[in-house]
Amino acid sequence: MIKIGFYQFCPTFGDKRANLHKIAEAMGKVEVDLLVLPELCTTGYLFTSQDEVNELAEPIPGPTTLFLENITRRKHCWVVLGMAERDEISKKCYNSAVLIGPDGYTATYRKAHLFFEEKLYFAPGDTPFRVYDLGIAKIGMLVCFDHFFPEATRTLALAGAQIICHPSNLVLPGKGQQITRVRAMENRIFWVLANRYGVEERGGKKLLFTGESQIVAPSGELLAQAPPDREMLQIVEVSPAQADDKKVTAMNDLFADRRPEMYNLMRSRDS
Ligand code: ACM
Repeated sequence: MIKIGFYQFCPTFGDKRANLHKIAEAMGKVEVDLLVLPELCTTGYLFTSQDEVNELAEPIPGPTTLFLENITRRKHCWVVLGMAERDEISKKCYNSAVLIGPDGYTATYRKAHLFFEEKLYFAPGDTPFRVYDLGIAKIGMLVCFDHFFPEATRTLALAGAQIICHPSNLVLPGKGQQITRVRAMENRIFWVLANRYGVEERGGKKLLFTGESQIVAPSGELLAQAPPDREMLQIVEVSPAQADDKKVTAMNDLFADRRPEMYNLMRSRDS
């Protein structure tokens, strides 16, 4: 059994130092093997210009991953967080998820499916959907709106992911949390949705983030859920190998029963 969890909080826009110290303080109080933090959780979400993104985004590895490495090395744990990445060569910015562990920075996933005005400021991700074997579990990373695209989760599940780590800033009331439950169920995998809560109001725009972070079992059962509007760190014990059993009934195995030869994932308007 391993301890997996989420930390739902309300980042302060633009104050990376304060947000990182908040994370450090929360992590200092708990024992956890794998903790998931929200999307863009060191910078905040509601950017108003490309200059602002360029200034707050960082190379990976960089100062933020170094700061968190000090914690994961000492506590011998894994963290997945969402942060703004700046590629020093291309100068493009990405909305990324980063995996940091007992040996430090490990991997980056760049959000493939950008939501709404993220398209103004971030480049679409170019990293593959990859599974990482942490020794304690095999994990895949998705960022927020990626979960609307079932092919992304399916790719990770077919590659052996047992737990999806899902940093998020969900804003469509009641939708995202349902989708993650369905994705967990239809792939029989664990899912850790780390959502933020609170309001951001900047540049004449306002967003309300929906909280309700959750941990879902391969059966679709909710193992933990946070309230919509409050800070919460929750941890549950799970056995990741449970996600390797794809049986729905004695005669149905979710993966063995697939009919890939009948699926066409290319868009066709004529048929
Ligand atoms: C989202 O992708 N942040 C809704």
